[in-house]
Amino acid sequence: MEYNFAGRMNGVKGSAIREMFKMMQKPGVISFAGGNPSPETFPVEELKEISQRLLTENPGLYLQYGITEGYAPLAEILSEQMKEKGILKQGDKLLITSGAQQAIDLAAKAILDKGDGLACETPSFIGALNAFRTYEAPLFGIELQPDGIDTKMLEDTLAANPNIKLLYIIPTFQNPSGITASEAKRREVLEICIRHNVLIIEDNPYGELRFAGEDVPTIKSMDESGEHVIYVGSLSKVLSPGLRIGFVVANEKICEKITVLKQVNDVHTNLLSQAMAYEWLKNYSFSEHVQEARALYGHKCSLMLKEMDETFPEYVTYTRPEGGLFIWCTIHKDVDSAKLVKPMIDQNVAFVPGCNFMTDIDAPTPFFRLNYSTSSDENIVKGIHLMAEALKNI
Ligand SMILES: Cc1ncc(COP(=O)(O)O)c(C=O)c1O
Repeated sequence: MEYNFAGRMNGVKGSAIREMFKMMQKPGVISFAGGNPSPETFPVEELKEISQRLLTENPGLYLQYGITEGYAPLAEILSEQMKEKGILKQGDKLLITSGAQQAIDLAAKAILDKGDGLACETPSFIGALNAFRTYEAPLFGIELQPDGIDTKMLEDTLAANPNIKLLYIIPTFQNPSGITASEAKRREVLEICIRHNVLIIEDNPYGELRFAGEDVPTIKSMDESGEHVIYVGSLSKVLSPGLRIGFVVANEKICEKITVLKQVNDVHTNLLSQAMAYEWLKNYSFSEHVQEARALYGHKCSLMLKEMDETFPEYVTYTRPEGGLFIWCTIHKDVDSAKLVKPMIDQNVAFVPGCNFMTDIDAPTPFFRLNYSTSSDENIVKGIHLMAEALKNI
């Protein structure tokens, strides 16, 4: 049958990363492709104890429907954390979502009419870009510089395109580039967006994973009025992505709209997961756990960078992240990095070519992303050496 799909599906392609996951199922593949946290960081024994206790003590509560806004004790504990960081202000609310992905999708759904524009860093997070594409939003890619988004280009783009209603930005340990925006750039971004009446979605799933350098305040915390930024957080990279817990902090008028959308989307976030996350945050040491994750990722990142420094040809340059999970590479030649995918998979190494992260997904790019969080040390060394050989022959 010839299916007549909705026009909103025209701009959306399946994620190449998901496709690559299928190829990666073959045993022995060294994957630098995903964005997963290391399973070594999952507090398995603690979560086992918690889930057993919850289901023994009050199964009728945790297996029942819950409220859309989220499990109140979890919302409270997260709200406290967000207040301490200056993110949750008077007039704001915190709403728990099924991962940051849902928060981004519903925030865009609440704001964007068909044809409304959205500015974002290019490259950017593929899951968010695809969500925006389903709302038929023209995407305006703003280039990234070593200290964050190009604010001159942002200013010019917003001035020339008054239909832009949203800026989506990942200022800290950006996915896919690993870049962190400077404090000065963040202030500039806020000031430019306020001037052009553009709302900001600040996505910060990696913020806790700093293993070098100094913390930089979030854009949300810089917004005195509390009205211009929709802040999105997640427990995926610091606790477990399988629990599917994210959250939004925004002005209550925005949260009300997102709550209605969530009601029709999935009613509420998995209640057992929320209760498990709450018990874990309450009874175990979040800061100790995060310290261990930072040490692990810091080690893996330095190892990968050291191997790259020693083996990659000089025409390949790359970012040196201070946290998060990714290194972004540029081949300074007129090549499309996508042509390396098949030969690398044949050698059992997976990575993601840059085109997937660009606002124009069809254009060839000389960029690629490497992830260091899930591979063993041995596989990091082996996989980088294999990539170096392929890059020398490109
Ligand atoms: C920048 C960014 N935002 C959001 C998400 C989605 O996270 P969650 O698992 O909380 O839905 C990811 C996941 O990789 C991400 O990289």
